[in-house]
Formats: sequence, structure tokens, C-alpha cells
Amino acid sequence: METKRLLIRGFKPEDWEDLHEYLSQEEVVKYEPYGVFDEKASRDEALRRSTDHAFWAVCLKDTGKVIGNLYFQQQEPEPFRTWELGYVFNSQFQGKGYAVEACIRLLEYGFGELQIRRVAAHCDPRNSPSWRLLERLRLRREGHFLQTGYFKTDADGQPMWHDTYAYGVLGQEWLVSRRESAEKEQG
Ligand SMILES: CC(C)(COP(=O)(O)OP(=O)(O)OC[C@H]1O[C@@H](n2cnc3c(N)ncnc32)[C@H](O)[C@@H]1OP(=O)(O)O)[C@@H](O)C(=O)NCCC(=O)NCCS
Repeated sequence: METKRLLIRGFKPEDWEDLHEYLSQEEVVKYEPYGVFDEKASRDEALRRSTDHAFWAVCLKDTGKVIGNLYFQQQEPEPFRTWELGYVFNSQFQGKGYAVEACIRLLEYGFGELQIRRVAAHCDPRNSPSWRLLERLRLRREGHFLQTGYFKTDADGQPMWHDTYAYGVLGQEWLVSRRESAEKEQG
């Protein structure tokens, strides 16, 4: 898939260096269920993702550099046609609109070509860049769930519970809002 500035494609094993650049950044994995990756883990992950169609590498068209990834996975049961959206971007390439540009293209593909019905996404309420992105994408905050889980323990070994914001949007409403903003842009 292409956008003005980006190419969105499947992962290749040789993407490991670009993947490592951002999965080794503390601030990037802060709200993820894993810690920073070392080189070996990044090589293994690029290889694993090269056969996992849920992960999409987001590359700069100009240079081919992988600057982040999207995650788009069908949820069970299949007839519900609900997909989960996720994203992780290199901190050097945040705040430039790349994540929103890539996600819009993926949602167009999902609601258009794949004919899916609903997209859901979840994030930690403290991760404001993440929920601000979801709101820019026109997903609706549908719930705030308290202490849904933990990824880390504190110095005493006690769980550090986190809350979860649940976001969602239906294809029919997303396509209407896209059409309206395209019409506005054309004046
Ligand atoms: C969540 C994440 C992908 C959001 O990335 P992002 O770069 O903030 O998102 P966007 O692409 O929407 O960029 C928007 C920002 O770029 C700015 N921007 C600059 N040029 C722009 C352009 N051409 N178009 C749109 N926005 C542009 C916007 O003003 C906005 O800035 P602001 O955040 O100061 O308001 C990123 O913070 C990230 O990877 N975090 C680490 C991983 C993570 O937590 N993932 C989510 C787990 S739930």
C-alpha cells in the first residue's frame, strides 16, 4: 500500500536493523507488554514478522527506511468482522503525521477491500499520543476499564496495574466521515 510519503508492506528478515532501532528505544516500548529488544531479539522478531501477516512495516518512500509498524489482526469469531489496530513508531519519526497517514491507509484497506465491519483499539490512558492518534483517526472512546492487567512489577514484586481505554469505529460511520472530510477539503 502507498500514501503520499509512505510505503506499507510486509516485513522482511533484513528489516531487523531498522526494527532494532526503535524496539531498543525505552520510550517506544514503555506501554508495550515487552521490554527493550537486544540485537538478537530484533533479528528473531524481523524473521518472525516476515511470515506474520498481522504486522506491516511502514517505510519512507524516499529512502526505504522502516520507521515503524502497524498491527492489524482479525479477532475471533471471524463472522463478527472485527479487527484490532495497533502501531509502534521510531521516536525519531513521531510528531510528523506518519502514524496517522499510515493508519488512514490501513483503515481504507480494511473497510474498503476487506469489507470489515468494526475496528477496535486499546491503549493505556497515560499514553496520550496513542489515544490522540485514535481520535484523529475518528475512533470513539467506548470505555475506560480499571486495572485490567499489568506488564511489570514494582520493587516489592507487586503488580503495577494499568487501566485500559477501549476505542472503536464501525465501517459505515468511518467511511461517511472520510467522505465528509474529503468534500470539505475540496471546498
Ligand atoms: C502512538 C504513536 C504511534 C503516535 O505517533 P505520532 O507521531 O504522535 O502520531 P501522528 O502521526 O498522528 O502525528 C501527530 C503529530 O504530528 C504532527 N504533525 C506534523 N506534521 C504533520 C503532518 N504532515 N500531518 C499530520 N500531523 C503532523 C501533529 O501536529 C501531531 O503533533 P502533536 O502530537 O504534538 O499534536 C507514537 O507515539 C508511538 O509509536 N508510541 C510508542 C509506541 C506506542 O505506545 N504504541 C501504542 C501502544 S497502545
